[in-house]
Amino acid sequence: MKTQVAIIGAGPSGLMLNRYLAKHGIESVVIEDRSREYVESRIRAGLLEAQTVDLLEEIGVGDRLHKEGLEHHGIYLQLGAEKVHLDFADLIGYSVWVYGQTEVQKDLDAACDKAGQQIHYEVTDVALHGVDSESPSVTFTDKDGNPQRIDCAVIAGCDGFWGPSRKAMPGADVGSFERVYPYSWLGVMAKVAPSTDELIYARHEDGFAMHSMRSEQVSRLYLQVDPDDDIANWSDDRIWDALAKRMATSGWELKIGEITEKGILPMRSFVSGKLQHGRLFLVGDAGHIVPPTGAKGLNSAANDVRFLGQGLVEFFKKNDASLLNRFEERAKETVWRVTHFSWWMTSMLHTSKNEFDNQLQISQLKHVMRNRALQVNLAENYVGIR
Ligand code: APR
Ligand code: PHB
Repeated sequence: MKTQVAIIGAGPSGLMLNRYLAKHGIESVVIEDRSREYVESRIRAGLLEAQTVDLLEEIGVGDRLHKEGLEHHGIYLQLGAEKVHLDFADLIGYSVWVYGQTEVQKDLDAACDKAGQQIHYEVTDVALHGVDSESPSVTFTDKDGNPQRIDCAVIAGCDGFWGPSRKAMPGADVGSFERVYPYSWLGVMAKVAPSTDELIYARHEDGFAMHSMRSEQVSRLYLQVDPDDDIANWSDDRIWDALAKRMATSGWELKIGEITEKGILPMRSFVSGKLQHGRLFLVGDAGHIVPPTGAKGLNSAANDVRFLGQGLVEFFKKNDASLLNRFEERAKETVWRVTHFSWWMTSMLHTSKNEFDNQLQISQLKHVMRNRALQVNLAENYVGIR
């Protein structure tokens, strides 16, 4: 196969980039090692910044989001039984959208179908070649066992944290940063109307708890647990009891319903030393990971897609590589901002085994709950003003 851009990975990064390029008349081939069903059913976060919504609209996948997404104008912060509403509309005049990444993925897949864009699912043996040259290639074995090769001008590594692209980038490990947090999230999806109008982020002495949602009928809830905890230790009753206890405030009641999915997610911050080398570029989770607090993963992936997309349009349409050469510099500014913000929210809201750290974080949270300047700062980072 011959194309302009070979895209490895059909998650949100890969497909947002494919749609962006197609809109500008640039051809790409997408390969993915899992099945379409697997990719579409993977549960991830569900909060979109205004600029992510803008990008999705721009690439033609904003319709269902506007019909079914829930526009949110703030969040609740809680410390024990004390609850404060941060009104983003009043603080900064912006909002965010609650819409599951699973739905974004389905909308992207549907847009590819409609445009006749084929995606090669269930490929194996993916390998990158000649990333230092002007004509790199990607080889793989297709679903039917046939060896294949994509000759291209550019490779976009959109293959997540574990994919082969970062490993194929010379020197990417040098200057990489990683932090694995000493806690995990137990996440549940439940068939029950949300017990809150806006998301709740609660710090309790037993640990963090969070109330999010997917629709008027489906709630998404999280609990801080130890990283070595086992989901088998958490019966549905134990989960509901812990959520109700950690989020309790006077006069508020947690509605209980059928838990349809539960699992434990590790928490990690990671920034690759390099996001570009020769004709290889890393997009989304392939280049950086944030812990889920604040839901920045998909949003920073969208930011990368816009910067890489703009660079590629100049490169292919005007034969000018100057913007493309600045991809890493432009993307990293946002990457480090969201890395700091997610680390800050995570540390402030989770309990630590170190009592000095706990006291510092409680003091920080109280300060945010009482101080408008800090609330403006949180709101700007949360909605993605940078
Ligand atoms: N070949 C082809 N595809 C691969 C390979 C490979 N060898 N290895 C991994 N992949 C695929 C994965 O199966 C996955 O579908 O790459 C895709 C990467 O998708 P994501 O992990 O979803 O990462 P990304 O598209 O960058 O999405 C950004 O937003 O909510 C956050 O972290 C969350 O993943 C999310 C991110
Ligand atoms: C989610 O809905 O999954 C979600 C929302 C906000 C967060 C984290 C996760 O900060």
